[in-house]
Amino acid sequence: MKTTAVLLAAGQGARMKSGLPKMLHPICGRPMLSHSLASAMQASDEPSVVVVGHEAGQVRAAISGDVRFVIQDPQLGTGHAVMQAESLLKGKTDYVLVTYGDMPLLQASTLERLVETQKANRGPLTMLTVIAADPRGFGRVLRKSDGAVAAIVEEYAASPEQLKVNELNVGAYCFKADWLWAALHRIKVSPKGEYYLTDTAELAVRDGLAIQAVVCDDLIETIGINTRVHLAEAESAMRARINRTHMLNGVTLMDPAVTYIEAGVKIGRDTVILPNTYIRGATEIGERNQIGPNSHLLDSKIGNDCTVFMSIMEGAVLEDDVDIGPFARLRKGAHLAKHVHMGNFGEVKDSYLAEGVKMGHFSYIGNATIGRHTNIGAGTITCNFDGVNKNPTEIGEDVFIGSDSMLVAPVKIGDRAKTGAGAVVTRDIPADMLAVGVPARAIKKLERKKEE
Ligand code: UD1
Ligand code: CA
Repeated sequence: MKTTAVLLAAGQGARMKSGLPKMLHPICGRPMLSHSLASAMQASDEPSVVVVGHEAGQVRAAISGDVRFVIQDPQLGTGHAVMQAESLLKGKTDYVLVTYGDMPLLQASTLERLVETQKANRGPLTMLTVIAADPRGFGRVLRKSDGAVAAIVEEYAASPEQLKVNELNVGAYCFKADWLWAALHRIKVSPKGEYYLTDTAELAVRDGLAIQAVVCDDLIETIGINTRVHLAEAESAMRARINRTHMLNGVTLMDPAVTYIEAGVKIGRDTVILPNTYIRGATEIGERNQIGPNSHLLDSKIGNDCTVFMSIMEGAVLEDDVDIGPFARLRKGAHLAKHVHMGNFGEVKDSYLAEGVKMGHFSYIGNATIGRHTNIGAGTITCNFDGVNKNPTEIGEDVFIGSDSMLVAPVKIGDRAKTGAGAVVTRDIPADMLAVGVPARAIKKLERKKEE
């Protein structure tokens, strides 16, 4: 028996008051639709169908994975939206799981429960409900005196008596496919000119068929997003869920309420995350690191035993036992090998710092490679941009760059060379030479230290 999910994502989301389609507003770093989609895919057997309409092109472009899109134009309500999937799915699936793209917190396990219940149901429909004090504009679930579901009534159409009902329609349904396709064509247009999927409940009752209701006991899962107030609620609920998972996996979060970890981030055991830290995108962090406070990590990789203290990393890599900060900024392509030390107010971009490099204070390193155990003095700058091109700087091993050296690229500095403080290096410096002045000139051959 096959189940296919249909996600409704064609609505305009007018209540968001936004130029961005509602489905693409991010929650913990991902468009809300992709959270809903991930759960729906997990609870079904075939690639999901996403119904798009408003800004369809933008929505399609933002969603990846094994999904099929169908267009709903014009958007005439949730029932009409599901109808758009009929020609694609009719005869191809036994059950249809329908959910809304604006319910990003619904868990796959809950949807699985819905599908399982429907598989055991002789009637055509199982729906998800929740008992809640705050109705949040949701449709009310009306039951008959024997407890069976009778209908779903939208808030605006409900009588004062019906408004008091505290069982709400969450917006997730599992249908017998054949019954669904026929029922969709029987839905009558509402006073608002829309065809409501929720009217299928009444149709089933009229057919004398049983509706099952699965009651969701976690209110958080049922947060639907219609306004930016709901968006903020969903963000903080999703954040709490992500943070809890990391903590249960062995990561210490000193204050989870102010720790912002996006969906998909990986963090190893015994890493400690200090407050006000943002860990975003495809970031992967190993074990026993200390990150934060006040740090921002995007699409970066960190090995084991590192310290990132009040610093920023974007598209950067730290190997093991590296320490950076406070106020270090690693930009795209910065790669610090093991045991590198980078102190305050440094910036590194598109550069490789080999094992044991020390760069303590106030430096800019761009488009450079720096050999093992080289020391970069305070205030060193690779002058990598000549106004047109980015030029490379190559610094060898065990080099000593004096404070405030300007390395005018392209330039190479040989192994074990030294520059004097304030040197402006415009020509290559051979290995083992001392260079000083403006522009710097090599003045003497350095004595080699005896090998230990
Ligand atoms: C809907 C339900 C309501 C339920 C609530 C839960 C209906 C009629 N009402 O109300 O009972 O309590 O969700 O969150 O279903 N959409 C389309 N095409 C359309 C209209 C909507 O794809 O023509 C999509 C929207 O993008 C959205 C979803 O369907 O993802 C729900 O639409 P929305 O307008 O948010 O419905 P609610 O008023 O929240
Ligand atoms: Ca909604």
